[in-house]
Amino acid sequence: MANEFKRHRRLRQSASLRSMVRETHLHPEDFIFPLFVVEGATENNDVGSMPGVYQVAYNNLKKELDEIIELGLTSVIIFGVPEVKDPYGKEAYNDDGIVQKSIRFIKDYAPQLTVVADTCLCQYTDHGHCGVVNGGVIENDTSLELLAKTAVTQAEAGADIIAPSNMMDGFVTYIRKALDESGFPQTPIMSYAVKYSSAFYGPFRDAAHSTPQFGDRDTYQMDPANRLEAKREVKSDLEEGADFLIIKPALSYMDILRDTREETDVPLVAYNVSGEYSMIKAAASQGWVDEKAIVTEKLLSMKRAGADLIVTYHAKDMARWLKE
Ligand code: PBG
Ligand code: ZN
Repeated sequence: MANEFKRHRRLRQSASLRSMVRETHLHPEDFIFPLFVVEGATENNDVGSMPGVYQVAYNNLKKELDEIIELGLTSVIIFGVPEVKDPYGKEAYNDDGIVQKSIRFIKDYAPQLTVVADTCLCQYTDHGHCGVVNGGVIENDTSLELLAKTAVTQAEAGADIIAPSNMMDGFVTYIRKALDESGFPQTPIMSYAVKYSSAFYGPFRDAAHSTPQFGDRDTYQMDPANRLEAKREVKSDLEEGADFLIIKPALSYMDILRDTREETDVPLVAYNVSGEYSMIKAAASQGWVDEKAIVTEKLLSMKRAGADLIVTYHAKDMARWLKE
């Protein structure tokens, strides 16, 4: 008798068979955990808009690292929350800034942990923009000098990877050159190559105190309506020497992640941003969704779309669930 249809269900009969044909897997080393370190605090600060997320006080870093390592996580991306801000974001490139101090501490206490340094000015500028502002305009080229300085101080502190997130044109070129000239030719750049101007960043700006004090980020971050523009951003960052590419946000931009996967062979990072996190936390706290199931599905889908790594606030929870 001729087969009149395909029996796809043959491979779905048992948990064992399903696991044998499963194409995508999650591991703790897939996740990069965002760590906010707050200057001048003696206790951690909860972030109201991101349940479960807090700004870590410098004095509590050891305890935080113990937990991260115990869970099997292997990397963190570090964001500083400085005590003082000014128009030029000076604390971003202060050798004794909160990020530089924290990186030194982490690399001393837990050298096996890979430390990614987010390189931007917005947490450090009083106007909250990612670059230098002149007459209401966010200047590109003057910002590059400051970003390069920031990256070098982070590398000097021991950062394993530099992750520029500011969306100024040419940042990879400038940072690569500065790192090479300062004796860090081996420090990789994880570029936020494709970063959309997104409402999904709202809760992060609360966590990092980085809300723009005037205007928005539309002149430097990308228009959510654009797909071809992402190809141009990816192309130029690769030409400039990026070692990893970040696509951000993740959930609404899976098409961009897939496009980029098909066009390039460098490691890709999905940034599962704050708004994506908080929406699930809010729904889960109401009992409307099953948090473990929905987070697992969400992170799996990012890998399936083409991500090798995921920056995610769910990292600790997911690492815990993977152990169960
Ligand atoms: C800015 C920056 C942003 C995030 C991290 N660094 C975006 C922004 O405020 O425009 C967003 C992270 C998140 O939402 O989780 N350099
Ligand atoms: Zn920024």
